[in-house]
Amino acid sequence: MNHTEYLDFAIELAREAGVNIRAAMVRPKNIEYKGLIDMVTNTDKEVEGRIISKIKEKYPSHKILAEESYTPQTAETNTTGSQYIFDDQPTWVVDPIDGTTNFVHGYIFVCISIALCINKKPIIGVVYNPILDELYTATKGGGAFLNGQSINVSKTTSVTHSVVSTNYGYDRTSEGADFMLGNVKSLLMNNVQSIRSEGSAAVALCLVAAGRTEAFYEFGIHPWDIAAGVLMIEEAGGVMLDPLDGSELHLESKRVLGATPGVADELMRLLKKTPVPNKYAVIFRRDDGS
Ligand code: IPD
Repeated sequence: MNHTEYLDFAIELAREAGVNIRAAMVRPKNIEYKGLIDMVTNTDKEVEGRIISKIKEKYPSHKILAEESYTPQTAETNTTGSQYIFDDQPTWVVDPIDGTTNFVHGYIFVCISIALCINKKPIIGVVYNPILDELYTATKGGGAFLNGQSINVSKTTSVTHSVVSTNYGYDRTSEGADFMLGNVKSLLMNNVQSIRSEGSAAVALCLVAAGRTEAFYEFGIHPWDIAAGVLMIEEAGGVMLDPLDGSELHLESKRVLGATPGVADELMRLLKKTPVPNKYAVIFRRDDGS
């Protein structure tokens, strides 16, 4: 298995997609709604289609889990709590535009996120923001980089000296809003230095990896939003946890907390002060029962 070959290929895919996204960002967009507020544009679909066909051409035996073309598992097959068809085989996990809402509004935090996973764990990750021309790359055991320079998480050890980021996703129910605001209130009342919301989970995870923020959390997230960013944080010396209970993060669990180690425990305590609604509390189990 050649990590460098996979990484170079993913970088090539991300840079090519970046050219299209940068050009399309300033043009009128063709928008469809996947839900009340969740959008997809023709650029998401075109970029994803191109990436998928290039992966199929180069690695025909590999699987692909991509935002705009995944098939949700049905309730009957959904025995592990996972909504995705995702197994231990080499699988490319792709978000053609993470931060679609930002893209539609011309707001600068948009990126292409590509990871190759084996045993459902990322072994290479690429996150490219074509607007800022920031390319984050990581390989398992090989470190994390921003535009070729090695990056590390911040050395901060207190929430009072931390910028914590979260995104507000697509849940617009009263229960969902109470939960999100409850977490924000808990952080504010415990003197977090500041709170940010970039609107792209992949970008937000990379900001933690680069030590620009101390942590990112979100409930209601998908594997393609986080697969590459998770590896970025792990390789930059950070920790990735399931914020439900602080256990090991699974890409499919729909929850994420990535942090510098010095603030992870404190953040877990603060987030746990807000009761987790049932819809975010599905216990995810792997196929082997673990
Ligand atoms: C979304 C972004 C957003 C997060 C959502 C994601 P998309 O991805 O990462 O920040 O809050 O949960 O679904 O739809 O822009 O690819």
